Amino acid sequence: APSLTYPAVKVTNLSRVKTGQPITFNYPDASSPAILVKLGRPAIGGVGRERDIVAFSALCTHMGCPVQYEKGRFLCRCHYSMFDPAKAGQTYQGLASSWLPQIPLRIDGKGDIYAVAVQGLIWGRVKNV
Ligand code: FES
Repeated sequence: APSLTYPAVKVTNLSRVKTGQPITFNYPDASSPAILVKLGRPAIGGVGRERDIVAFSALCTHMGCPVQYEKGRFLCRCHYSMFDPAKAGQTYQGLASSWLPQIPLRIDGKGDIYAVAVQGLIWGRVKNV
């Protein structure tokens, strides 16, 4: 398979991240909404001292409706799919069969948090970049 070249895009700074308060951004481009959240519990791929800061595509893998972070998981209100942000976006309820694409993060020495890739195909696209 061809290798993909993802941009590194600054999302926010650690000082602005509060547990349970999602931050929206776009990645890898303006047409792709995404959500960063500090879960308050360790997560697969989580960054930060508690390994609990993660980011995901905000487009449900079923039909592309926006997902919301609520009560510790991502919920799609169109057909009530739910995704576990601590388990790499695993779908555990509803019509979506694909996991929610996770966006790996990196933190630099100043606490700036960058999105650096996408794991899985963002809904509605033939390729992520
Ligand atoms: Fe999200 Fe159908 S679009 S469950």
